[in-house]
Amino acid sequence: MTETLSPDDIKNQIRYVSHEIRNHLSICDMYSQIIKKNLEKEGIKNPSIENAISCIQQSVRIIGTNLMELKSINNGCPQIFDFKNLVTKGVEMSKAYVCDKNIEFEVFIKNTDNIEVDENRFLSCMVNIIKNGIEAIDIKGKISVLGEVKNGKGIIKISNNGKPIPKDKQLTIFEQGYTTKQTGSGLGLAICKRFLAEQNATLELKKSTKDQTTFEIGVNII
Ligand SMILES: Nc1ncnc2c1ncn2[C@@H]1O[C@H](COP(=O)(O)OP(=O)(O)OP(=O)(O)O)[C@@H](O)[C@H]1O
Ligand SMILES: [Mg+2]
Repeated sequence: MTETLSPDDIKNQIRYVSHEIRNHLSICDMYSQIIKKNLEKEGIKNPSIENAISCIQQSVRIIGTNLMELKSINNGCPQIFDFKNLVTKGVEMSKAYVCDKNIEFEVFIKNTDNIEVDENRFLSCMVNIIKNGIEAIDIKGKISVLGEVKNGKGIIKISNNGKPIPKDKQLTIFEQGYTTKQTGSGLGLAICKRFLAEQNATLELKKSTKDQTTFEIGVNII
C-alpha cells in the first residue's frame, strides 16, 4: 500500500532531504581537500587518507539514499550493527567539521552489543549533533562522546563546551526552523528527532550550562 502525503508533508520531506544532501556534500568537499593536502605533503600511503576516503564513500552512499527518499522510494532500511563500530564511524565522519578550530575529541565506548538501525540515518544524527557541538565552540574546546550499553539500551552522550543554550530555548531547539546561526537552517535537530523516533530511539538535551552541553541518544539493543 502506498502512503498518501499531504503537500506539506512533501514540502517538509524535500527540505529535510535537501538539508542532508548539503551537509554530506560539504563533508565530501572538506575531506577531499584534506586528501589533496596530505598527498602533496606525504605521499600516497597514509592512514588519514584511507580514513578520509572511507568517509567520503560513506557520505556518497548517504547522498544516494537521500536522493532515493526524494523520490519516495526509500523510507529507511534497518539492519544490525555493532554499537561501538557505528558510533565510532559517526565520530570520524563529524571530524570533517573541525576545520581550523582547535578541538580535542574524547571518545570512550565502554562496551558494545548489536543495535538495529538504518545506518545512514543513524550516522546523519550523529553528524548533526556533533557538528552543532563543533559550531558552538568558538576556537578552542572539547567534544566528548561516551557510549555505553546498559539495561537493554545503547546510550550515547555527546557533549561540548562553548556557548550554552538559554534555558527558555532548550525545548525550542528541536523545532524546525529555529536557528541562532547566520547560515543555519534550523533543521538539524528536527531531522535527528524524527529519524531517531522512527527507529524507536530517543534524543534528549540532558543539560546545557556554561561548562557543558550534553545531548543523549538512546537506542534499543537487539
Ligand atoms: N551543542 C550545542 N550547543 C549550543 N547550541 C546548540 C547546540 N546544538 C544546537 N544548538 C542550538 O540549537 C539551534 C538549532 O540547531 P539545529 O541543528 O536544529 O539547527 P542549526 O544548527 O541552527 O542549522 P542546521 O539546519 O544547519 O543544522 C542552533 O542554531 C543552536 O542555537
Ligand atoms: Mg545544526
